[in-house]
Amino acid sequence: MEVVHRKDLVKYHVRNWQNQKKTIGFVPTMGALHEGHLSLVRRARAECDVVVVSIFVNPLQFNQAADLEKYPRNLEADCRMLEAEQADLIFAPDADAFYERIPAISMEFGPLTSVLEGEMRPGHFSGVAVVVSRLFHIVEPAKAYFGSKDLQQVAVVKRLIQDLDFNLQLVACPTARNEDGLALSSRNARLSPAGLKTASQLNKGLSLAMAEFDIQNPDASQMAAKRFLEKFSDIELEYLEWVDADTMEPVLPGIPVSNPAICLAARVEGVRLIDNMVLENHGNGC
Ligand code: PAJ
Repeated sequence: MEVVHRKDLVKYHVRNWQNQKKTIGFVPTMGALHEGHLSLVRRARAECDVVVVSIFVNPLQFNQAADLEKYPRNLEADCRMLEAEQADLIFAPDADAFYERIPAISMEFGPLTSVLEGEMRPGHFSGVAVVVSRLFHIVEPAKAYFGSKDLQQVAVVKRLIQDLDFNLQLVACPTARNEDGLALSSRNARLSPAGLKTASQLNKGLSLAMAEFDIQNPDASQMAAKRFLEKFSDIELEYLEWVDADTMEPVLPGIPVSNPAICLAARVEGVRLIDNMVLENHGNGC
């Protein structure tokens, strides 16, 4: 495994692999790796000839300077984990080298980003789309692996690939959870043991909405989940909504949707967490 900080070195390897007709699998990350990230690396390892992982805390996608400051960074530990997963190349640029100048471009995705995370974090998905586009140009993967934990990010990147005609396939991977069902996240490290227990109720709220989902009345299951989570005074719910996983539009009573998803954001001990569950190929909407 090689760790490089410069994009021309990545491109050098990419050319060599292309000459050898090797398929490149790519896992973009911001580091502070956990089992969730590693599950994507394993999938890439199983499906592609070579695996490239990027580790880059992208300033463009943070709308709060403090959040960017606080983001955990530990390149050495990350590299040890990736070595064990047999990744081939780690691209870990620093921000000044990655953006020779701050990009002036911003990318809008209409209704896809006017709700949920897009509404709560203005500019976030534009920053994600810009960094992912640049990374795709450098790495030229055949397949790129993303976690369904960030469901709206998956929908945005799928649209980005279509709209800009990137020649690659996005592989959406399931959310890795701990034994209590809590979605793994770098932010969980900021929770106390009691906070971790409380946060695992979020998964129970989502499961409740899933169990009670009725397309004739999606609000009923949404309300049941909200009422359940409101019982926990340490959970501050930001949103909890049924949306179409592909378009992020609200699920409306009686209107078929193939992949309804229940999405939430909440703060526990001041730490902002997101999670979701998708009812795949639901009912007659397929
Ligand atoms: P980051 O938060 O580091 O996540 C990198 C990838 O790991 C994303 O595709 C994310 O959805 C996935 N991931 C995180 N937690 C997961 C879990 N519990 N189970 C499965 N997958 C999980 O997402 C980003 O970085 C950035 O926005 C990025 C795409 C790298 C662009 O900067």
